[in-house]
Amino acid sequence: MLEIGKEEIEAAARVIQSRILFRYGDPKAGHPNECAKFERELAKKMGVEHALLVTSGTAALVCGLAGLGVGPGDEVIVPAYTFIASALAPLAVGALPVIAEIDESLTLDPKDVEKKLGPRTKVIMPVHMCGLPADMNAIMRVARKHGVKVLEDACQADGGSYRGKRLGSIGEVGAYSFNYFKNMTAGEGGAMVTNDPEVFSRAMIHHDGGLGFWQHNQDLKVPLFAGWNFRMSEIQGAILRVQLRRIDGLLKRTRAHKAKLMAALSDSGLRFIKHNSLEDECGTVLGFLFGSEDRARRFIAAMRKEGVGTWTPIDSGRHVYSNWEPIMQQRGSYHPALDAFKRPENRKSGRTYAPDMCPRTLDILSRTVYLDIRPEFTAAEVRKRISACRKAAQA
Ligand SMILES: Cc1ncc(COP(=O)(O)O)c(C=O)c1O
Repeated sequence: MLEIGKEEIEAAARVIQSRILFRYGDPKAGHPNECAKFERELAKKMGVEHALLVTSGTAALVCGLAGLGVGPGDEVIVPAYTFIASALAPLAVGALPVIAEIDESLTLDPKDVEKKLGPRTKVIMPVHMCGLPADMNAIMRVARKHGVKVLEDACQADGGSYRGKRLGSIGEVGAYSFNYFKNMTAGEGGAMVTNDPEVFSRAMIHHDGGLGFWQHNQDLKVPLFAGWNFRMSEIQGAILRVQLRRIDGLLKRTRAHKAKLMAALSDSGLRFIKHNSLEDECGTVLGFLFGSEDRARRFIAAMRKEGVGTWTPIDSGRHVYSNWEPIMQQRGSYHPALDAFKRPENRKSGRTYAPDMCPRTLDILSRTVYLDIRPEFTAAEVRKRISACRKAAQA
């Protein structure tokens, strides 16, 4: 969470005072319509036609895959470094996650994507980890060449951009998370965006099995099918509208801090990770790449002595593919008939899963150190980090 306060309290209070907490009420009866307004405002900010507010980033990914018509027999390429939800979402719709290496930007390696593509690949899912954009130009080129779709997991990158375009708006579908740890939050929440009205219609239906009973089913471009319930409440919609108004200002500050840190450390001997769009990414972390894990860990220890916390992504548990127990052990569902790993065509496909299957990812993660950047840093706090980095680099 970057910032929350009085405006969010007032927005939530206004909804409670209206006594209409359900998003699909009668719009004529003084309905706050916060969720619908948020969706319009999000679509406008992201530069897309359609946005759908849902209960989580995971739900946004699942609705995005449903929107793209992904299901049993299909494969989705995901990076080896991402939150496990990116790989669980394909399984939730009966598709198989195929794990690809990251590169030194700590995001999906387009070259490995090309190696991992197969006859059943339907979607490539780049993930903008820690607010750092994936190499979208290269990924889109690979996707176009092979006729597959792109679903951007921008759950850790709400508000960031890639070379002038908002993250989430470049592929056919984008997904955001608004859980407590994200750039924008309502405690929990998510959204999917797309320009394709049919993709949007399928996602709408999937997100709400009751949709056919509300007025909002009028513009659907596909017939109703059995959906779930990933609906958000008006309270969350109201909070998120305030968060959306804050986001650009907050990321302007994190980016400015990052630019200062990088300029001051340019001659420190520290090597930065690869940046795919430094000018307009989120700026919420600064990554250093070391020659060995030992050096990375020594740097972390030296920073701790200077009173500054840093971390290595190899220690980030469920974000590292080798710790994805249900996937490493190929248990894709509670029921065998719903389990993509147990489908005959997937058993024959030769896809294997093992903790050492992406050695380059493990190597890069273990040599990387992240320094978190917060918008509220004062100039003195930025200076403290610069001096700590310089001393730790020497040590
Ligand atoms: C990269 C990534 N994808 C997907 C998700 C899922 O989001 P949520 O927790 O809102 O379901 C997260 C959340 O941590 C994430 O970091």
